[in-house]
This record gives sequence, C-alpha cells and structure tokens, in this order.
Amino acid sequence: MGAFLNHAQHRKKSKKLKMSNSVLIIDFGSQVTQLIARRIREFGVFSEVKNCDITLDEIKKIAPKAIIFSGGPSSVYEKDAPTIDKKVFELGLPILGICYGQQLICHLLGGEVGAAADREFGHAVIEINNKSPLFENGDAHMNSSRVWMSHGDKVEKIPVDFVVIAKTPNAPFAAISHEAKKIYGVQFHPEVEHSIDGRAMLKNFVINIAGCRPDWTMKDFKKEEIIAIKKLVGEKRVICGLSGGVDSSVVAALINEAIGKQLTCIFVDHGLLRKGEGAQVKEVFGEKFQTNLVYVDASELFLSKLAGVSDPEKKRKIIGATFIEVFDAESAKIKDADFLAQGTLYPDVIESSHPNKGASHTIKSHHNVGGLPENMKLKLLEPVRMLFKDEVRVLGRELGLPEHVVGRHPFPGPGLAIRIIGEITEEKIKILQEADAIYIEEIRKAGLYDKIWQAFSVLLPVKTVGVMGDARTYENDLALRAVTSIDGMTADVYRYDAEFLCHVTSRIINEVRGINRVVYDFTSKPPGTIEWE
Ligand code: XMP
Repeated sequence: MGAFLNHAQHRKKSKKLKMSNSVLIIDFGSQVTQLIARRIREFGVFSEVKNCDITLDEIKKIAPKAIIFSGGPSSVYEKDAPTIDKKVFELGLPILGICYGQQLICHLLGGEVGAAADREFGHAVIEINNKSPLFENGDAHMNSSRVWMSHGDKVEKIPVDFVVIAKTPNAPFAAISHEAKKIYGVQFHPEVEHSIDGRAMLKNFVINIAGCRPDWTMKDFKKEEIIAIKKLVGEKRVICGLSGGVDSSVVAALINEAIGKQLTCIFVDHGLLRKGEGAQVKEVFGEKFQTNLVYVDASELFLSKLAGVSDPEKKRKIIGATFIEVFDAESAKIKDADFLAQGTLYPDVIESSHPNKGASHTIKSHHNVGGLPENMKLKLLEPVRMLFKDEVRVLGRELGLPEHVVGRHPFPGPGLAIRIIGEITEEKIKILQEADAIYIEEIRKAGLYDKIWQAFSVLLPVKTVGVMGDARTYENDLALRAVTSIDGMTADVYRYDAEFLCHVTSRIINEVRGINRVVYDFTSKPPGTIEWE
C-alpha cells in the first residue's frame, strides 16, 4: 500500500458517521466480486472489497453498515476452504451471502451443503414463495424473476429459524432468509446483468434492509481527497508522470486542484503518440490547468534505440527502460520531491491483494511499460486507488477535464511502436498517425466512439499492388481494429456497418500517401489479443 490514506481510512478519520454507511464485500474468489461493489456504488453507497482473510477486528474497524459474502470457486466442506469468523453473525449487521456466500452462511450456522447432482450454469427462473423485503419492487412484490445461476454445490438443509423465500425446480433453496436477523442467502448471482431484477434486489438489501443512505457522490469524494492530499503532502512537492491517458490525467488534475504549484507533471514524449496527442497534453495541463508541466521530447532517443528492432517484446523492453531513464533524469531535477503520484485503480488494488491472483494478473503485468524503478525513494500517492475506471471518468468531469481526455480509449504505453508491425521508422509513424486520425475522426463523427472500448489502426509490413488514376501502385497495407470489452481481458469485434468501413477506407487511401489497401480485423480475444503485437 502506498503512503496515501485510502479512502476508507480517510473517511474514518474525518467523518465517523459516514464510515458506518458503507457496505463491506468479503471476497471468496468469485470472478465477479468487483461487480457487486460497482453496483452498490451506483446506488450512491460507498462499498469496498476485502479479501476473505479479513479478521473480525478488521471488520469492526471498518464498521460497515452491512456485509456481503461473495461467491467463490471452492466447496465449503473441503479442508482449507475459505471461511470467516463465525462471530461475524454476532455483530448484528445485515448479511447477504451470494452463491458460495450463501453456502457458507448455511455451513457456519448449522445447515448442510453438498455437491449438486446437476451443476447449474445459466438462466433460471426463481419462484418467490415467501414475502421478503429482498424481493420488493417499488410498491409491488416480485412473484418470479429470471436469474443467473453458476454453481456446483448447493444447500441441502437450511439452518434453524431460516425460511425459504425463493426456489426453482432444481434449487429448492434458491433464496433463504432470517428476517429478524436480516441475514439473507441467494444461490444465484444478483450482481450480473443476466439477473434481470438483480439490481433491485441488491438495492433492497443495501438501502431498505440495511438502511444505508445513498449519499456517496463524486463531489464529496473530490472534496475529501483534496483535503487528504493537502494534509498528507504539507509543504512538500509531488511528481506526477502524465501519459495523456485518463487515469494519470485525472490524478494530475486532482492533485493540481489540491496543491497547485507544488505539483510537477512530467510528460515523456517518446515520439510514438497519436497525431496531436502531445499538443493536447500541453493545451490541457500547460494552458488550461496551468500546472508545472515538464514536457520532454525524447523522440530521437527512443527512435534511435528502436532502430532495426522488430521483435514486439524487445520493443516493449527498450521503451520501458528508456522511459525510466528519461523520467528518472527529469525527476532528479526536481528538488524536495517527496511523493510520486500514480493512477492506480481499484481493480489493481483488489487483484494485487488477492491470494488467488490468477493468470489475469500475470497477463497484465507485462503491460506496465512506464512502470517505475523499484529503488525510487519517493512515496506513492495514489488518490484514485479506491475508484473504478468509470468512476475516475466521473471524477475527471467533476474536475473540469475535457471530454476528449476523460472519455478516451485506452492507449498502450509503448504507443504506436506495437501498432507498426516490424521495424519502426519515422516515415511509418507519420503514415500511421495520419491514417489513424482519419479513422478516429470518422468514428467520432458517426457517434460510435463511446460504444467502442478501443479502436485503432495497425500498419502492416506488407505491400500490395493497387491502381490509382491510371498508375499502378505498390504501397503499404493498413488494418483497422475496433473491439468492445469491459476490462480488456476479453474482447469482441465491433460490428460496423459495411458502408462505414468503405467510407473510412476510401478516405484513408485518398488522403494518406503510402497506403493503398485497408482491411478490417474480425478476431475476438481470445483467441486473438487486442493489439497485434
Ligand atoms: P492485449 O493486446 O494484451 O491488450 O489484448 C489488452 C489491453 O492492454 C493494452 N496493452 C498495453 N498497455 N503497455 C500498456 O500500457 C503494453 O505493452 C500493452 N500491450 C497491450 C491494450 O491496448 C489493451 O487495452
């Protein structure tokens, strides 16, 4: 953890009352635990995820208003299965167990859990057979609901004093409750979109049953973080590495609002940016926000080191090492800097604290080009470490960052270096910048930009024959890519209208010298990756 007070700690110090308005999610390893937190924050209630090794004392310290046990891949009856101190039920807090969480409640309170004869994955319709505030729907009451099931085990006997509140032919204990103690268990996953009334059920639990006030707003967050940053930094200086992307831009704008000229932003231009990107950074952080901006044009250094290199991983390593070299040299010039600001987001915080950090974690680590040297003496300042990406965007708007910055598609650290397949030359960078600018301009004009996770062009090391006017051409090929995704870990191809692609193709071929053929990439991830290198 960085030196920065995390949001929860800060709340506890500054507003004792508000702290007890949060929901604590205890993670038992489900792939969708973060979704529970996002859903609850959507209702305006602060919610945080903690690993299942959390102790009772730690829970008491957090003092949540309600607790949710997430799902998970284990079986409660197995040796070493993740569990929780039974005394958690004596805290008198409302508790909702989801899937594994429901099984754990039953296991700990005297019910029985076993392997289901038929594992169940997919849609099911629950019949709500007992009135419960969990299933209220405005003034009415749900009678049935389409939900998403994903489990191998199931509850076989519920604890004494619990009642069944919903069932399916396959799951006689689809939802159970102890209304007086406000303890609930559901076998399905209300947090996923496929559970049609899932949001309403979670809202019922958080607001109606647990009594949380929906008063957590980004305005409050901003105010509190600014106070916390001021207090922590005092008279010292902060360095922020700006990449032009959403996260570092929001962090810089936030810290700038807190401490103004005590912040220095360093932007390393490696010469592999998109057209106009460097100028935008200067405009936003140099002119609009008037920050101390150190703009380092290191493009010659980067390009000379990359000369003749075609291997993607070698490109990444060279760019990563050169970035550190340049950044280090610049930051050493800033005397009395005590802090380094970073745009770490909540998913990274949760992932890196999880004992079962799986393949997904490893896959991401090679992406941390622009990561900083381990021997850096600065303390970390990570003011958005409790936020999800969409929340960071809301904060960015709150801080007055322009839409083209907060809504920007992700852009890899090595930039166009991994979108020029094979060797990189200045001429190729220029061609790719021009073509990509047309592609993105057309996407924006068609109102499609926000529907796409990431769209970009790739310059291929292939030349093909064409005919322009009466002359034969022999020029480069360009691939267009656009994908939809939630987190970049998996991705689907964006389905454009063919007319749109024809229009973009014709503009690129007519306006960019050096390209005479354009193709569209229809590969999803997996089996492909989003980038070509
Ligand atoms: P892939 O290509 O692995 O990309 O499907 C997933 C997401 O990660 C981005 N990406 C990178 N980001 N440095 C980065 O900062 C990298 O080396 C890198 N490689 C891929 C990619 O743009 C996508 O959003």
